[in-house]
Amino acid sequence: MTQNIYDDPTFYQAYRRLDRSVQGLGGAPEWPALQALLPDVRRARIVDLGCGFGWVCRWAREKGAASVLGVDVSENMLAQARSMTADPGISYEKADLERLQLPVGSFDVAYSSLALHYVENLGRLFEQINRATVSGGRLVFSVEHPLFTAPSCPDWIGGAGGRCVWPLDGYLSEGPRSTDWLAKGVIKQHRTIATYLNLLIAAKFTILHVEEWGPTPEQITTHPSWALERERPAFLLISAQR
Ligand SMILES: C[S@@+](CC[C@H](N)C(=O)[O-])C[C@H]1O[C@@H](n2cnc3c(N)ncnc32)[C@H](O)[C@@H]1O
Repeated sequence: MTQNIYDDPTFYQAYRRLDRSVQGLGGAPEWPALQALLPDVRRARIVDLGCGFGWVCRWAREKGAASVLGVDVSENMLAQARSMTADPGISYEKADLERLQLPVGSFDVAYSSLALHYVENLGRLFEQINRATVSGGRLVFSVEHPLFTAPSCPDWIGGAGGRCVWPLDGYLSEGPRSTDWLAKGVIKQHRTIATYLNLLIAAKFTILHVEEWGPTPEQITTHPSWALERERPAFLLISAQR
């Protein structure tokens, strides 16, 4: 049963104040690395899975994409996306990624940013994406890194000598985690890196690139507080080819 936490008023009010919600792609520190994994989107037909406010839908059209379909389960997120979009080349659809059906062979690029760690049956979704993309088409996505989704208390703890330490437990116990991020009881799905890769392989994708994201030295110069993010990767970025 999909939680759809983005339609929870408390969660949504907090989410819409985040840098990435206010500033868009410029407020998402992993965006430059994720963008680098995308192929040339000119003339491409793109599907954005868990599109949120539609930042990448609009970016892709500005870069020359033929069409973009943004899919999300949240009425709040889709309403905001629609209010920020005036482009007949972009359509938004309310759908649950757990049950999503996409037309066969109709996309060149499937993209997803920070949505797939909410999906329980990811194997089914990868197979669906494989059917929906053309031969040679790409799947590019980011998720919260498994070192981030695993712990029962995902927060820094003070270590010896003032160092911050990231706690890790439960890494090999895959499945739901309930966390208090922006609201109480937010459910995310933890899976290991091996599971992400093996699900892609089982769905007949060729893995092209895997990145465990941390801020670059240049980003840390601009945002010194991000230095802590180099102690463990916050995001896992993957590109694969059908
Ligand atoms: C962290 S937000 C990311 C939004 C956008 N991709 C971005 O990077 O700005 C996660 C999004 O995934 C959507 N989502 C989560 N579970 C979903 C599901 N089962 N089906 C469709 N969308 C889902 C949420 O509603 C939310 O808009």
